[in-house]
Amino acid sequence: MNKLTIEDLDVKGKRVFLRVDFNVPLDSNQQVTDDNRIRAALPTIDYLLNNGARLILVSHLGRPKGVAAEEFSLRPVAERLEKILDKKVVFSPTVVGPVAQTAIDCLANGECTLMENIRFYPEEEKNDSQFSKDLASLADVYVNDAFGTAHRAHSSTCGIARYFETPACGYLIEKELNFLGKLKDNPEHPFCAIIGGAKVKDKIDVISSLLD
Ligand code: 3PG
Repeated sequence: MNKLTIEDLDVKGKRVFLRVDFNVPLDSNQQVTDDNRIRAALPTIDYLLNNGARLILVSHLGRPKGVAAEEFSLRPVAERLEKILDKKVVFSPTVVGPVAQTAIDCLANGECTLMENIRFYPEEEKNDSQFSKDLASLADVYVNDAFGTAHRAHSSTCGIARYFETPACGYLIEKELNFLGKLKDNPEHPFCAIIGGAKVKDKIDVISSLLD
């Protein structure tokens, strides 16, 4: 794979901005009903924490359209992650500004904070350059492991990366790229694809590409 991965980085004592996809379903009591996406990011999170990173986790949840709303809060995800990791996860109710900065400044090596839903900021989906720069100023290192969101040109997935010399991917993206790369570039024939998912529009390009 021709991409940098977390193993190419020196993360000890560094503030690492890790974009994850914690877009998990919540029930009417704000309880996580399926934590697969949280668990899928664990190999990367464990590696970074075990190697002394000061970890800043950033994700979206749902489509709040740039407005803060309790039903889209990542707070329940912080609680679930804390249980899974068996380790304190500091929840920051903002992503930028003094409260977020304090949460980051208080991190020791091997500790992590989960920021509130990045899509509470309208600038995120606009890939706003000042917002991307503000996000970048929070960290020394940028890692993207949000496989399910990596196709979106948003500030936290795309715009931010240009402010780092060595943006890298995590284990989840590495695994998916290796797996899908083989299927796309050199599949064994006959070749059958079973495609699922709720967002049909997003699947059309995939289907066209596979038909070729
Ligand atoms: C997903 O669930 O497909 C990803 O988290 C991306 O979410 P989005 O389609 O709202 O960008």
